[in-house]
Amino acid sequence: MSAHLLVAVPVALVAGVGGFLVSHYLQKRCCKKDQVNRAINKDSPKVVHSFDMEDIGSKAVYCRCWKSKKFPYCDGAHAKHNEETGDNVGPLIIKKKES
Ligand code: FES
Repeated sequence: MSAHLLVAVPVALVAGVGGFLVSHYLQKRCCKKDQVNRAINKDSPKVVHSFDMEDIGSKAVYCRCWKSKKFPYCDGAHAKHNEETGDNVGPLIIKKKES
């Protein structure tokens, strides 16, 4: 085996592993900016809201875009989000059937 090959193999190995680690790190960093929730209860591991059906009343409108200042309730912020991004998100509306 030549001396050049003895140097080239470890250099190629280090370059390959280094490239993999850099791309892996960049991919992880890139996905954090794609988080849906940018502001609500960020110190909590999971944002969960629970309501009793009896307390909802005749109609409740819940945010699904995560932009509402009244989260978990919709305040209409989805309209601006849709206009800026071309998205089509809207609220979840729960209402009682009229009997
Ligand atoms: Fe988020 Fe309306 S404000 S769905």
